Amino acid sequence: MTFNPLEEKGIPLEKQLRNWHQIVAKPYKKQKVDCYTRTRQILMNGIEVESWGFKHQFNRFVSSLDKEDKETISRIGRIENQQQMTCNWLCPADQTVLETTLGYEQVAVDLTAWLAQNEPDEYVKETFNFGLLEDFDHLYRYSQFAYMQEGIEPLDIVQGKTDIIVGRPTQHHHNCNALRLRNSYDKKTTSPQTKVNILTVLSGEQQTHNFYAEHGFMYGDHILRETYAEIKDVEEEHVTMYESLIDPSETMFEKALLHEFTEVCNYYTCYEDETDEEIKKYWEIFLDIELGHLQLIAKMLKKYEKRDPEEIIGSEIIIPCRFKSQRTYVQKILEKEVNKRLAPDGKYYKNYDEIPQDWASYEVQKKVSEISAPSENCIHLVKTYHDRDIISASKELEDKEVEILGNGLQKIAIANNTVKPDELQKMIDKHEKRESQKKIIM
Ligand SMILES: [Fe+2]
Ligand SMILES: [Fe+2]
Ligand SMILES: [Fe+2]
Ligand SMILES: [Fe+2]
Repeated sequence: MTFNPLEEKGIPLEKQLRNWHQIVAKPYKKQKVDCYTRTRQILMNGIEVESWGFKHQFNRFVSSLDKEDKETISRIGRIENQQQMTCNWLCPADQTVLETTLGYEQVAVDLTAWLAQNEPDEYVKETFNFGLLEDFDHLYRYSQFAYMQEGIEPLDIVQGKTDIIVGRPTQHHHNCNALRLRNSYDKKTTSPQTKVNILTVLSGEQQTHNFYAEHGFMYGDHILRETYAEIKDVEEEHVTMYESLIDPSETMFEKALLHEFTEVCNYYTCYEDETDEEIKKYWEIFLDIELGHLQLIAKMLKKYEKRDPEEIIGSEIIIPCRFKSQRTYVQKILEKEVNKRLAPDGKYYKNYDEIPQDWASYEVQKKVSEISAPSENCIHLVKTYHDRDIISASKELEDKEVEILGNGLQKIAIANNTVKPDELQKMIDKHEKRESQKKIIM
């Protein structure tokens, strides 16, 4: 079935206001929720936060709007705000910050892996693969804390759909921000798919940053607080990286259209995929709401810029957030690209052994990790409880952990408290020995 969003009417703006009971929906049950219902809920909150914020930027910076259209933008902004509350507050009160955090990183891993495999532009695809390995390592670091602080089995959150094991070590994600800037696409030649893919992942990363900023301090454990600070700073870099892929010459009207189109495409995918019948109803109504927004912004684009919206977004729906297990793909990228770094002399990537001694990111890394790297401390801590790190992966990947760590670690600007491959191997051996002793006793 073909679905052309520009031909759909959706719900008219006058009928989009909802009452408090409709806005604040019944949360899902954390013990029962499918992990990909949770990832959809987390992502759509991020998409709405971006869309709401953009409406305010639009009304602050666009001077050409007449009174009536300015009012329309402000009314749409109100609706984005209501949708954001519904999406975010589907999250239950008893889901801890760390549990939600594991959900955020599962979004980042599985969403970015899906996008990379459905990305027509090779350069953008490479950037998705690069970012994906960093969020993969965040999931591993936070999992150690989830186990220690709250006794959470990380597997209960990711439900075996996403592997949890060391990736490119977080201490090496800290770069000179200038190096994070990528080449931007050319708005005239780039496909709508690439534009939607980037805006989707950017919205997710931005909200991940905001969530860590607003929740990392809620734990008393200083090492965990520092880890939130460390990873939040990486999410800042991810926002810098993904937004720099966007052509800065897109007009505000063009961007407004892309925002509504991105919302349409994401809700369409959520509606198609959702297994929770109650939550699916929200995706359906929100898709119709976004189709209403798209109509209004398309009209403004024609009025102010005399342009055909189809030139920008095409005539077909795009599938930007099909959540499904990406373990095979992620393992392949992990084995091939864990040693990749941002190239010092351009907006590309290089293997670590080709990075020169004067790489600008070394200075950043030496400074932020000069005492220690919090993301390394979590392994030292979990070792005291469990002999080794907490992982959840296939036996094949588990057997490669020490090798992956060896390939991912740098030789320069390495934190004093780094867990090195030989140390990790000792932990694994000790754990195995203890496990076999347990069996004898039992
Ligand atoms: Fe929205
Ligand atoms: Fe992350
Ligand atoms: Fe990220
Ligand atoms: Fe919208």
